[in-house]
Amino acid sequence: MSKNIAVFGTGYLGATHAACMAELGHEVIGVDIDKAKLAKLEAGEVPFFEPGLEEVLRRNISAGRLQFSDSYEEAARFADVHFIGVGTPQKTGEFAADLTYVNAVVETLAPMLNRPAVIFGKSTVPVGTAQRLGDRARELSPAGEAVEVAWNPEFLREGFAVQDTLHPDRLVLGIDRERPGRAEEVARQVYSAILEKDVPFIVTDLATSELVKTAANSFLATKISFINAMAEVCDAVNADVTVLADAIGHDARIGRRFMNAGIGFGGGCLPKDIRAFMARAGELGADQALTFLREVDNINMRRRLRMVEVTRDVMGGSLLGARVAVLGAAFKPESDDVRDSPALNIAGQIQLQGASVTVYDPKAIKNSRTQFPTLNYASNSIDACRGADVVLVLTEWPEFSNMVPEEIEPHVRNRVIIDGRNCLDPTQWESSGWEYHGVGVPTLGRRTDVDVRTQ
Ligand code: UGA
Repeated sequence: MSKNIAVFGTGYLGATHAACMAELGHEVIGVDIDKAKLAKLEAGEVPFFEPGLEEVLRRNISAGRLQFSDSYEEAARFADVHFIGVGTPQKTGEFAADLTYVNAVVETLAPMLNRPAVIFGKSTVPVGTAQRLGDRARELSPAGEAVEVAWNPEFLREGFAVQDTLHPDRLVLGIDRERPGRAEEVARQVYSAILEKDVPFIVTDLATSELVKTAANSFLATKISFINAMAEVCDAVNADVTVLADAIGHDARIGRRFMNAGIGFGGGCLPKDIRAFMARAGELGADQALTFLREVDNINMRRRLRMVEVTRDVMGGSLLGARVAVLGAAFKPESDDVRDSPALNIAGQIQLQGASVTVYDPKAIKNSRTQFPTLNYASNSIDACRGADVVLVLTEWPEFSNMVPEEIEPHVRNRVIIDGRNCLDPTQWESSGWEYHGVGVPTLGRRTDVDVRTQ
């Protein structure tokens, strides 16, 4: 059954959700306070890089199912199903999440709701937020108890946002157990096309649904830091973390996915979510339960520092005057997002130690320039590598992982490559005469596969 839906926030989450809800056949209005962003979306342009999203956006605008507006009044008149998809960034100088934008949606929208409505929160919020917003919405709305707040956390990954929204692993819905209302029934109608495909649908209370999201991101962050901790140990004994990950990953209880050692996790979600989770646990008197997340964060941040040290060591102990090429700036491939990007953080630190750093990324140059205007930027790998004393691969875009030594060889000053994502084939580079350094992988001559085969 087609619904009239409003989606508040048109960033990575909101724009994708709005377009995908229209793709499912609903009538959708995307609402934002940023007029420039709305103008782009209305013209069928996605203001960020997300594979496949532009097609879905255009198709649904043309079909008349998707529109955009900055008017809450219009959204309140148009829809009786509302999704909150605004950001919950880290507060400046604190670990806690900044709920200004989420609160603002409810404070503005609720007084305009004069008929029954369901507000589904999708943003990642500290546990307890949904209950508080529900109380506030009922208090502010002329429809009172007929306005419901439920929580429907989003698990999409940037780079796979459309796929993850239309074909999710699971749907989770938190409802107010004291006032079950219509939220579950409405969610089943909104997601009927997905639920028909036997996607697991977990209905629970509000607090559990909020915790599911933060627990999932904490687990993923822990998995990455676990393998990066193993990389540190491997480095100490010249063992190979990639072989180790492959070997333990065969155990289905462990699994190989999300166990790639490297310069660690970044982006607008994992780092701030684990910090907000620790802050919230502290408020609830359960901080001991999450002290391990502080270590997960420490291991992760240590990877960035370590990469700077490795680069300095390779340059003979000083970065002064060194020319460093950095391939990759986005926090991960298939994205132009540079929020808390390990790659840019490393590039910035190296530059601050006196090197001249030139960065190239297939999609993230524009965003990188805004965040780090003092770095040099190139428009392709060759230009970035021109005259380089050392080349750093910091985001595993296919164009870097498929790169062959001959492509950049004539342009560099020294054949030294540091693979921050373990995405290159060490043997290929070394056999072309390059000095190769990975993360937690043995240096030349001490690699087991080389030794075993040559003995
Ligand atoms: C993450 C979660 O994966 C999503 O499920 C969640 O919905 C989303 O956050 C969110 O909370 O909105 P995303 O931030 O798009 O998604 O990125 P990931 O694919 O999780 O990657 C995060 C970081 O971990 C990247 O910097 C990536 O390079 C790094 N990573 C990932 C590793 O260092 N090693 C790995 O093995 C995997």
